[in-house]
Amino acid sequence: MVGNKYAVALVGYGGMGHWHARLLKEFEEIFLYGIYDINPEKLAAAKADGYVAYNSFAELCADETVDVVLVATPNDFHKEYIIGAMRAGKAAISEKPVTLSSADLQDMIDVSRETGKLFTVHQNRRWDGDFRVIKKIYDEGMLGDIHRIESRVHGSRGIPGDWRGQKVHGGGMVLDWGVHILDQMLLLVPEKIKSIYAHMHHVTNYEVDDGFEIVLHFESGKTALLEVGTSNFINLPRWYMLGENGTAQVDNFHAEGKIVNITNWDNRDAVPIVTAAGLTKTMAPRTKETIKEQPLPVVESDIHDYYKNIVAVLKGEAEQIVRHDQLMRVMRVMEAAFEADRLGQIVPFEA
Ligand SMILES: NC(=O)c1ccc[n+]([C@@H]2O[C@H](COP(=O)([O-])OP(=O)(O)OC[C@H]3O[C@@H](n4cnc5c(N)ncnc54)[C@H](O)[C@@H]3O)[C@@H](O)[C@H]2O)c1
Repeated sequence: MVGNKYAVALVGYGGMGHWHARLLKEFEEIFLYGIYDINPEKLAAAKADGYVAYNSFAELCADETVDVVLVATPNDFHKEYIIGAMRAGKAAISEKPVTLSSADLQDMIDVSRETGKLFTVHQNRRWDGDFRVIKKIYDEGMLGDIHRIESRVHGSRGIPGDWRGQKVHGGGMVLDWGVHILDQMLLLVPEKIKSIYAHMHHVTNYEVDDGFEIVLHFESGKTALLEVGTSNFINLPRWYMLGENGTAQVDNFHAEGKIVNITNWDNRDAVPIVTAAGLTKTMAPRTKETIKEQPLPVVESDIHDYYKNIVAVLKGEAEQIVRHDQLMRVMRVMEAAFEADRLGQIVPFEA
């Protein structure tokens, strides 16, 4: 602690490390104090930016001022640093994905239990506006019973040409964006998952997946399609949700989109569409009399709540928002997805 402020030491002063450094300037009770990075240039930058620069992780752990260790290195180093931090008596926050397997995650949870130290993960996309909006629509039953949810993120730049393309570092899109959109989906649908199907893409990278489809079959019969693409020059909507009384579409991260609800099932308003080679009544668009279009609800969300929760947990005033059981379930879904892809089959899950 420095005064009454919790002192954070960061491991890994790269892209996300800088993001945390900026965010941690905005709190009264927690702040970024020191940094360790394996790269001397990053360490020099940390020093120039006014932080304590540690020459080794051991030096960081030996600093009694440090309360919290935040790990933002490539994915394969999270486990070692998180366990080291807890054993040194520090609370530990890992960037996502928490680690590379459920066995490794169990080791981390075991050390947290043994030492009594906070261990959690920065699942920041729980605070994204697009997710909050779709969750409100789901929770408030604005579409009636839901039968299908599609969650996609699309880009066109392939996997960044760094460690994210290498298996040894825990690269690939399942572990990168997949962990975010799975975490969101499992929070959205509070049901057992009966089975999982997945297909990994290798358009620009053969070593790791550069995109995927994962289909979750829930206990009630609803299905969720999760998709990441990195070779998509036209993006499909961020969210598409189908219920018995309507459809919601969230177009993008800015939570733009609309809801269309049915107002009159009895009115058979279909005027057949005549195509070049036939006609169809089934696919005829509805006329305005039987549907109502409305804007998406507005939901306030603030990423500062993540660190506010960390502070409250450290003070013993709250439970951690990102819980071990949630992390483990997402990890197991990812493992089942890789297995489904390997087998080319649907695999049972929580049946
Ligand atoms: N939550 C999010 O929204 C989000 C977004 C981007 C990245 N991330 C996660 O943050 C982590 C870092 O990603 P990034 O984009 O910042 O990567 P990056 O490559 O930009 O930065 C990684 C940093 O770690 C340092 N490093 C590498 N190996 C190290 C080691 N063994 N010990 C100490 N330092 C080491 C590198 O020198 C570099 O400065 C990853 O786990 C990634 O999945 C999360």
